[in-house]
Amino acid sequence: MDQLPIWLSLRERSVLVVGGGEKAAAKIRLALAAGASITVVAPRLGAEVSELARAERVRHVERAFADGDTEGHAIVYGATGVEAVDTHVSAAAKARGVLVNVVDRPALSDFSMPAIVDRSPVVVGISTGGAVPALAAAVRARVEAALPARLGRLAAFAESFRSAIRAKIAQGPARLRLWQRIVAGPIAEQVLAGAEARAHAAVLQALNGGDAEHSTGTVYLVGAGPGDPELLTLRAVRLLQTADVIVYDRLVGEDVLTFARRDAERVFVGKEPTRHPVSQDEINALLVARAQAGLQVVRLKGGDPFIFGRGGEEADHLRAAGVAVEVVPGITAALACAAAAGVPLTHRDHAMEVTFVTGHGREEGNAPDWAALARTRHTLVVYMGVGHAEDIATQLVGHGLSASTPVAIVQNGTLPSQRVVAATLGRLAASIAEQGVTNPAVFIIGDVARAAQSDTTVAVNLVRAVAG
Ligand SMILES: C[S@@+](CC[C@H](N)C(=O)[O-])C[C@H]1O[C@@H](n2cnc3c(N)ncnc32)[C@H](O)[C@@H]1O
Repeated sequence: MDQLPIWLSLRERSVLVVGGGEKAAAKIRLALAAGASITVVAPRLGAEVSELARAERVRHVERAFADGDTEGHAIVYGATGVEAVDTHVSAAAKARGVLVNVVDRPALSDFSMPAIVDRSPVVVGISTGGAVPALAAAVRARVEAALPARLGRLAAFAESFRSAIRAKIAQGPARLRLWQRIVAGPIAEQVLAGAEARAHAAVLQALNGGDAEHSTGTVYLVGAGPGDPELLTLRAVRLLQTADVIVYDRLVGEDVLTFARRDAERVFVGKEPTRHPVSQDEINALLVARAQAGLQVVRLKGGDPFIFGRGGEEADHLRAAGVAVEVVPGITAALACAAAAGVPLTHRDHAMEVTFVTGHGREEGNAPDWAALARTRHTLVVYMGVGHAEDIATQLVGHGLSASTPVAIVQNGTLPSQRVVAATLGRLAASIAEQGVTNPAVFIIGDVARAAQSDTTVAVNLVRAVAG
């Protein structure tokens, strides 16, 4: 380690910035955020620093830098971008023992500025010692994505209980366990999800001797999206990393499960369209049992849990059993497949409305109202329709849609095996048979589907591009 990371308290201390342009503005912004009182020495100011000076948020000394300017400051920034001036600033500061940073000039600097992820009071600084700032910025982007947006709230929440915990629970394993639940366990998850009142109640229960450690866990109904793990929400990833148990469906791929905690229990309860190896009653019972054992359970479902995913039924069952349920939405197949195929589900010229419908309700005596759905200027996305294509097309054409209505069939949307087949209502079943389309697939029916980038279109375009 070539440099020592320290977090410097600048509140009401004096900072000198030499230069008034954009580089200076960037340093001033940070120093102001840290509560410093700032003097800017520069003959001219750029727009941002000029505005700060006008608002009296910085003191402006309108002239060129002089040696004695560094006197009495906690730190000095050289930010003129003019080599001779910045070198002069560095030498003058060093001569007086004041720490100096010259922008983009590590050799002239005593300290470097890290890339910062600010979830105050949690602050992460990433440094390459000034050598490769672009790498620090790239690492920062990853850390930004990994840290929950409400981490600062969590820190404030935990801090508010410090003295109460110290007063009520003796130092030792019990206190440590409570802290772990507050900062990384289920209580933390509630705060991060914005449910602070519940989190507050849980801490009070623990402080007042409730058997909080063995209280009922929560079941998170989490949408796993259409298959591409890049389309998981940040919240889904965080819950996967912390859950004790993951109960997952057939449409949840191995790539998504790699985010799971290594030692989490994994339970596969996949359903095939025609085969239910684990019944819904068994799944419900399993979720209740695990939660009642005090475990945090992620019930992971393809797409969105509340779109044709029985999420509603499971939530009702869990609540009736007294188990807390939280729903984390996911990207549903209709949205993902439309995006993947280049089809806008609504378009001012073609469709003012969109309906998601299941194609296999008929067997359950629950057939959609095809007469009402056979409308123009309307996009219909049919889930679970592969085995019923003939019937669906017959119904829609029979109720007035043209047989030439475009249909985009998207199979395995967003996965490496994705296929897009351009068809029409009249040839829907024939196209499925000819192309060997299988589940999972959706049909996007309506004028918007004309925009579909079918595999054939993509192939033809590629051939044209290659042919020049
Ligand atoms: C039981 S439903 C679950 C839907 C899921 N909850 C959602 O919001 O996407 C299963 C159906 O969703 C559709 N589906 C799910 N993932 C898909 C994908 N990656 N590509 C195409 N269709 C998909 C298919 O119609 C499949 O038969």
